[in-house]
Amino acid sequence: MNQDDKKRMVAEAALKHVVADAVIGVGTGSTVNFFIEALAGIKGRIRGAVATSSETERRLKAHGIEVIDLNSAGDLPVCIDGADEATRHLHLIKGGGGALAREKVVAAASRKFVCIIDDSKRVERLGAFPLPLEVIEMARSFVARRIVELGGQPELRMGFTTDNGNPILDVSYLEIDNPVEWERRLNDIPGIVCNGIFALRPADVLLVGTDSGVQEFR
Ligand code: 5RP
Repeated sequence: MNQDDKKRMVAEAALKHVVADAVIGVGTGSTVNFFIEALAGIKGRIRGAVATSSETERRLKAHGIEVIDLNSAGDLPVCIDGADEATRHLHLIKGGGGALAREKVVAAASRKFVCIIDDSKRVERLGAFPLPLEVIEMARSFVARRIVELGGQPELRMGFTTDNGNPILDVSYLEIDNPVEWERRLNDIPGIVCNGIFALRPADVLLVGTDSGVQEFR
């Protein structure tokens, strides 16, 4: 089974977590794109969706799914999103697609966070995937120097700005042995809008697409 087959399979498995008559949160990325396709088949069962990126918003609308602003939706019963890395503690690295800030807000606003990945994303320790940091433009050199002091190697994501108009630094070589502590430490650096560690609010359910089917972890 190739990676896309696993992504499609896990995306379809996430449909059982969709709450009827509710507004649900929808993440960003290629795995979530399969979820949006699957969601289109049951769109009559939900009131609408909060999108974590302009790309997800565009795709939801193209499938005739109503997109609702989080400001009017209030807290959500569930959100479904992908990840770049996931541990057995359901700690994640996210932001490969650059939507980390909105994804973190939507995850925090959701009572249940269902993360969908293929098995290439499962790791023992976070950090082999470069950690995305969304930063304020005028602070990017300052943040980069602080990151070097912490042992990381930041690289500006060229030709990219987030939906919030900010650049991203992708940080390699961090030893993220304690994700909760690292997420707090990075939250404390002025100029970082959002870091891609999702550990203070980890996933509640991790669905993993594998050759032998979908595995579920809680
Ligand atoms: C976007 C994300 C995505 O969830 C993450 O990058 C995984 O994407 P994909 O499903 O394409 O592998 O965090 O900001």
